[in-house]
Amino acid sequence: MALRLRTAVLTLDRRGRPVHWPDALLVVDGGRLAEARPLARGRAPRGVLDRRGRLAIPGLVDAHCHLPQYPAVAADGGELLPWLKKNIFPLERRFRGEYARDLSRLFFTDLAAHGTTAAAVYLSVYAESAQTAFEEGERSGLRLVMGKVMMDRGSYDGDFARTHPRESRPHASLRESDQLCERWHGAADGRLRYAYTPRFALSCTEGLMRAAGAEAARRGAFVQTHLSENGAEVAAVRRAFPRAKSYADVYARAGLLGPRTLLAHGIWLSDAERRAVSGSGSTLVHCPTSNAFLESGVMDLPAARLAGCRLALGSDVAAGPSLDLFEAMRQSVFAQRLAKAHGLFKTPPQATPLKAFALATSGGARALDLPAGAGTLTAGAPADFVLLDPAAYDRFGPAADAETALARLVYRGSAAAVRATFVAGRRVWGRL
Ligand code: GUN
Ligand code: ZN
Repeated sequence: MALRLRTAVLTLDRRGRPVHWPDALLVVDGGRLAEARPLARGRAPRGVLDRRGRLAIPGLVDAHCHLPQYPAVAADGGELLPWLKKNIFPLERRFRGEYARDLSRLFFTDLAAHGTTAAAVYLSVYAESAQTAFEEGERSGLRLVMGKVMMDRGSYDGDFARTHPRESRPHASLRESDQLCERWHGAADGRLRYAYTPRFALSCTEGLMRAAGAEAARRGAFVQTHLSENGAEVAAVRRAFPRAKSYADVYARAGLLGPRTLLAHGIWLSDAERRAVSGSGSTLVHCPTSNAFLESGVMDLPAARLAGCRLALGSDVAAGPSLDLFEAMRQSVFAQRLAKAHGLFKTPPQATPLKAFALATSGGARALDLPAGAGTLTAGAPADFVLLDPAAYDRFGPAADAETALARLVYRGSAAAVRATFVAGRRVWGRL
């Protein structure tokens, strides 16, 4: 039966323009929004559920996060490479059995509680616990792109020159990924998809990356990896791949770039690299809270936009200290404004709440190739939305216009305002 909901609505339209309806009707039918429109003169049709105190926004899309790392949030440990060794690899090594099941449940519940309806998620190297995470992902009702991490070079020993005992033969890593892809890519009415997940250039041989790229393309699966996050990492990649022109070129040569490829960070890129990323249709996933936490740097968003790169937003938990994408939106605006003040980029950033909101909604939806209209609350779009209590962050009555409503949401909003989260019309968290 259709759900007819009377609520305020804040969204982008399908052309990216902000829309704020203080009194609106959402009709949810068959997993989609059959109607999304303002109510004229306070007149509502019969049979509506009156939730006028709530604000509906599109479900947020976390285009980069690591499930097994969740317990390491807020644990300082230096910059990227030492942090991985000290805080992350020991934790990912533990991601097995019932612990992996419990942690997966917690992680997906928390994603939904933070207003996130779709996410691209890294697991650990173990195929069994990847299977467990997919099972729990299916139960969660969320839209998830996930993959077992591939690491046939850099290992959980933290020595990027040694091989991982289990992953030492690239074929084993690839075969396990293929089997998981076979089982889960397109499962749960297409809500679950598989991402071949070569962790980053330092943890993979060229052979493994090439094979992963080829299999992903053959199967229509995603690829997710990290690109140019940290200065020491970039220098190490240059040493490890002397024949490549650049870090991005390592992935280009391996056939890893394409419209279903998610590249986290992209901070230390040259213009030529940005052009290669853009030409391939790959998405750069901006992770501003992580970039501050690990002292990685500030992504040159204006240069990425000028090059025509697709962009999305990620929490990068556990390098980002929370799953709260409101926090990530806010941080992206603040970091760009500081970069502007310090004259860091050739083209000064024009950082606005609107741009940050677009990254977390329509940008993410496009990156994860979600159904048409996802990331917006428009007729025909999937019914992926979040009901907020705006009083949790907005003390000053109705906003005069859409820009003001967006500014209050991005500068002052947080997961604490989330009351209920819906995916494909089904309530996956909270109370209506
Ligand atoms: N680069 C390679 N692995 C990781 C990871 O787990 N987190 C982040 N932030 N960067 C990485
Ligand atoms: Zn990451």
